[in-house]
Amino acid sequence: MAVSGVPVLGFFIMALLMGPQESQAIKEDHVIIQAEFYMTPDPSGEYMFDFDGDEIFHVDLEKKETVWRLEEFGRFASFEAQGALANIAVDKANLDIMIKRSNHTPNTNVPPEVTVLSNTPVELGEPNTLICFIDKFSPPVINVTWLRNGNPVTTGVSETVFLPREDHLFRKFHYLPFLPSADDVYDCKVEHWGLDKPLLKHWEPEIATPMSELTETVVCALGLAVGLVGIVVGTVFIIQGLRSGGTPGHQGPL
Ligand SMILES: *[C@@H]1O[C@H](CO)[C@@H](O)[C@H](O)[C@H]1NC(C)=O
Repeated sequence: MAVSGVPVLGFFIMALLMGPQESQAIKEDHVIIQAEFYMTPDPSGEYMFDFDGDEIFHVDLEKKETVWRLEEFGRFASFEAQGALANIAVDKANLDIMIKRSNHTPNTNVPPEVTVLSNTPVELGEPNTLICFIDKFSPPVINVTWLRNGNPVTTGVSETVFLPREDHLFRKFHYLPFLPSADDVYDCKVEHWGLDKPLLKHWEPEIATPMSELTETVVCALGLAVGLVGIVVGTVFIIQGLRSGGTPGHQGPL
């Protein structure tokens, strides 16, 4: 605990975003960013690489190993986890200095914005994944729970690490695989020190009502019928026109 003796009003964060100038930019339109943070009390930190807003990998600081966002990335690249630990140690020392210099001014809490959406358009009975996108918050300390019909669900859930934002706030994704059913409703419950009470973001499948489907069928059938009638009537007129055109003498009273 770097700040013992100080009332714990909030967290102290040392966050670094190393922008495109320090890292290699792939062509001009892609940016790789190396981001890291360390904070106290309840020390925690993170070290990761970001490609246009997506994680490439982070380093598990406890296990001291590189964790690729997708397993196959590890077949094309490697990263020495020890380097991350060295950086975090430097961040830790810098944070101690910053705490003293700032006269023990803690981080201010910025509450998250939460959005829930499905990975693909929902079809009843077709397996899908719910995505809870938690954005624009600080510090990177958060509790997220998935609720199905009000009850916590943990089967198959997964999450990303804290992802950096240019404004030094954070983003994070939580995932829940599910089988869409007309009876189930979901909530992504988010707890953060910037919120007075847990934020529940509701989601339920948008099911096409049988009525609207019937209406669609009727409109389609009517349209088809009108089209067919038009073709028939039009053909009759053309044939009549050809006939009368071929014998102009019969048309007038001459
Ligand atoms: C997360 O949950 C734990 C245990 O209930 C609680 O002590 C902690 O304050 C919570 N964190 C936040 C950010 O709400």
